[in-house]
Amino acid sequence: MTLILGIESSCDETAASLVRDDRTIVAHALAGQEERHRPFGGVVPEIAARAHAEYAAPLVEQVMKEAQIGPNDIDAIAATAGPGLIGGVMVGLVTGKALAMAWDKPLIAVNHLEGHALSPRLADDSVEFPYLLLLVSGGHSQLLRVNGVGDYNRLATTIDDAAGEAFDKSAKILGLGFPGGPAVEASAKLGDASKVDLPRPLLGAKEPHFSFAGLKSAVVRVHESGQHAVQDIAASFQSAVVDCLEDRIEYSLARIEPINTLVVAGGVASNSAIRAMLLNLTQRHDMRFTAPPPWLCTDNAAMIAWAGIERFAAGLTDGLDFAAKPRWPLDNDAAPARGAGVKA
Ligand code: KG4
Ligand code: ZN
Repeated sequence: MTLILGIESSCDETAASLVRDDRTIVAHALAGQEERHRPFGGVVPEIAARAHAEYAAPLVEQVMKEAQIGPNDIDAIAATAGPGLIGGVMVGLVTGKALAMAWDKPLIAVNHLEGHALSPRLADDSVEFPYLLLLVSGGHSQLLRVNGVGDYNRLATTIDDAAGEAFDKSAKILGLGFPGGPAVEASAKLGDASKVDLPRPLLGAKEPHFSFAGLKSAVVRVHESGQHAVQDIAASFQSAVVDCLEDRIEYSLARIEPINTLVVAGGVASNSAIRAMLLNLTQRHDMRFTAPPPWLCTDNAAMIAWAGIERFAAGLTDGLDFAAKPRWPLDNDAAPARGAGVKA
């Protein structure tokens, strides 16, 4: 039996978790920093890095105590090594390296995106490779073919904002607070999407990519017009995101080899309107749909420990000189998407 300690610190969540190769999440702990970032309406990298430095070691101590285990019970240490806000990534990675050195255990430097990408296999032991993955978070919107551990084909990415970024920015414009995704979803439940006309960027486009920046700009316009209730704008915004995601997935499905499973991961995957659309889409295509529970969709360390389990089983460990990477695409061979400031 393999037991791995996972550490996550790439954005504004510090987390530690102990996961076994039989998929038991032995312990997990998470310290959010929402209160610290709320006054700024978004994550401030310097504040995040300092908070990770405060929380990382105590959270490791907490999960070890909770699980009543000592260093000898752990087989390896998996820490997020990128992509993300570099100050925070360095804190978690250095914490992992220090423990690996002190306890004489192997280090596994985990790509945060691989953590999200493999999380459906932690949640559900029947999810087998290959599968199609919609990864929608605050920093990324990608459609990937997951072939195996470390083996990904990126089919689509965003040419501007990520889906979660669009939720967060729209929430800020609408005065719904931070973090935006859950606030927009709650407001949308009370609204009527048909009352506000918003664009669907790249709908029907002859390329696979996503785009959300135009949608956010349209939210600014309709909000400033003063003619619409906030909940109606929120409902219309959410329905536009749903339509865009659906259209883009259909575009890729029509062009790739048939694949029988679609999974969704990343913070935006906790949105119930998006989940409902995905379930419907997969039923139309006779595909299987699975999504991890919401807490495993947003950033957490269990998914990092699990990616560690999968990499460790494949004999993949890393040196103590592994450098933190602010950018780290899952598919190095993916053709660049058009547009300036494209996010990998
Ligand atoms: O995966 P995650 O926790 O962190 C990143 O790696 O980015 O994703 C956070 C993102 C935020 O943009 C947040 O607003 C969004 O996920 N999010 C949601 C919902 N819950 C979180 N977006 C839409 N609907 C939700 N219910
Ligand atoms: Zn994430």
